[in-house]
Amino acid sequence: MVIIGSVRPGRAGLSVALWVHEHVTERGGFDIDFVDLAELNLPMVDEVKLPRLHDYSRRHTLAWSERVAQADAFLFVSPEVNYSYAPALKNALDFLYDEWGKKPVGLVSYGGRGGGAFGAAALRPVLSSLGLVAASSHVDIMQASHQIDDGFFVPDDQQVARLDGLIDELGALAPALRTVRAATLVAG
Ligand SMILES: Cc1cc2nc3c(=O)[nH]c(=O)nc-3n(C[C@H](O)[C@H](O)[C@H](O)COP(=O)(O)O)c2cc1C
Repeated sequence: MVIIGSVRPGRAGLSVALWVHEHVTERGGFDIDFVDLAELNLPMVDEVKLPRLHDYSRRHTLAWSERVAQADAFLFVSPEVNYSYAPALKNALDFLYDEWGKKPVGLVSYGGRGGGAFGAAALRPVLSSLGLVAASSHVDIMQASHQIDDGFFVPDDQQVARLDGLIDELGALAPALRTVRAATLVAG
């Protein structure tokens, strides 16, 4: 599953995420569910019960839960916003709990000169809290909007190599963690 964190009109994130989607598709090995949080349009978390209880009352939560539960691995594409990451991504993460657990995630961050590094660092403890397993590889893009031409993100060789490394890591982690999840179900 590829998730775009930015939801604002004119966002660079859509172009970056489309490049990620296209590159993963070209490499093969993953069926991608492309999640545009702007289209998903979740409200701010409006469930009465804690997500850990998995007792959802809203139709949008049930649909989001089902979608995330089907995914084996994630790629989050997020800008840095005030030294943190996209608020819509935080909200989408906070809606659920078990659905994320023991699944690998890779980060594609972008922002100013720092390539979204502070945003990615702010996201890591949240991933850990949800039981997501963060890949050590990371794609960071400085001033992504400078590499967008006619709506298309044009990556340099280093960015492509980094994305390849991240996809390789997710490809290795996904089956291993699927085994861990299956073993946990049997033991539980
Ligand atoms: C409110 C706001 C805060 C931002 N804060 C940071 C920041 O702390 N660090 C950074 O590198 N870039 C920051 N930026 C720049 C964004 O990361 C950059 O504009 C990016 O393209 C936004 O993603 P989007 O175009 O996909 O919405 C900020 C942008 C906005 C609008």
